[in-house]
Amino acid sequence: MRHGDGVDGREDARETQRQRIGVQMKALVLAAGKGSRLRPLTNTIPKHLLPVGSKPILFHVLDQIVEAGITDIGIVVSPDSGPYIEEAINESGQCRAEIAFISQSKPLGLAHAVSVAKEFVGDSDFLVFLGDNLIQEGVGSFLDEFRASSAEASIILKEVPDPRAFGVAEVDASGKVISMVEKPREPKSNLAIIGVYLFTPEIHEAIAQVEPSWRGELEITDAIQKLMDMGKEIRSHLLQGWWLDIGSNDGLIEANRVFLDTYLQDDVRGETDPQSRIAARVQVEEGTRIERSSVEGPVLIGANCRIADSVIKPFTNIGAGTVIEDSSLERSVIMGNCHISGVNSLVGSVIGKNSSLTMNRKCPDVLSVFVGDDSKVELR
Ligand code: G1P
Repeated sequence: MRHGDGVDGREDARETQRQRIGVQMKALVLAAGKGSRLRPLTNTIPKHLLPVGSKPILFHVLDQIVEAGITDIGIVVSPDSGPYIEEAINESGQCRAEIAFISQSKPLGLAHAVSVAKEFVGDSDFLVFLGDNLIQEGVGSFLDEFRASSAEASIILKEVPDPRAFGVAEVDASGKVISMVEKPREPKSNLAIIGVYLFTPEIHEAIAQVEPSWRGELEITDAIQKLMDMGKEIRSHLLQGWWLDIGSNDGLIEANRVFLDTYLQDDVRGETDPQSRIAARVQVEEGTRIERSSVEGPVLIGANCRIADSVIKPFTNIGAGTVIEDSSLERSVIMGNCHISGVNSLVGSVIGKNSSLTMNRKCPDVLSVFVGDDSKVELR
């Protein structure tokens, strides 16, 4: 979006605001990343389809975008992730948006991912949301602030204890961004760039001038810094609530812990026998049977599971069709159609779908595993 021909800055800004109100905003969800830190799980499923609560993280992202009023969404996928993501969205039948799939043939960075969607974006301002991140407060107020401003870009920032693994921004007292650096050794602030951005089409001019970084990628952080060098205004929005990034094994467990802790309510639709004890904040889907077991929320148990002679402790997310017998689970993500038997203390674990974990003797120690899809683990 270009500024109007106003003779002074204020007229210019008013013109920009008027145009913004009139033009429909679009959104880009970036879902081409490989998820190498989540292998072996991501050998068989894109990380964007890994569950947070009862659905893939990507679906939460799409929901938040639609809730903010954007229904024209492009999802940037890789040749590997594309077919899985397209199938998952089509099968769910729940998406309330118009979705276009845009292929990024090589993983050349976030700015490159934005540039391959240039045609899709056209003349619209657009939101960019990394498809493996989730924020508590959604993007509604972030969008409203941008629409009311005359900035060319805006970023969401979160105060973190050690920002060196992220893009880091320096801002003035009004929230205007002064500098941005990707993964600095000596950060100038504790404000991490969380991976949710707003742009006018002007970003494409900046991306065209960016050189690959030390990691061989076109960094979106460098492109925004370029916009600043071109004299454009970049605003920021400070996130108050949580920010989840499922980029690693611990990240996936922690994302599920925080999500269940924030949102889970009592909702038991399955059957429980009189010998079972179900404490507060437990959600059990239809077709599930709980026998001689104790469940202490927050715990989510999907449809058509069987939980027998077991103890399910807080922050456990069990996918549909799973059987758990004679076991104790805590703070773990079990992805569905799994069979867990005789495991007396499974904690902080992730188990891919269609896998089995059986133990033929009582183990005095806590067991913590990270197992991919279709695996068979037997501890004798
Ligand atoms: C990317 C961005 C970085 C941002 C981070 C948020 O990093 O380049 O600025 O802080 O996402 O998750 P990457 O995940 O590519 O290392």
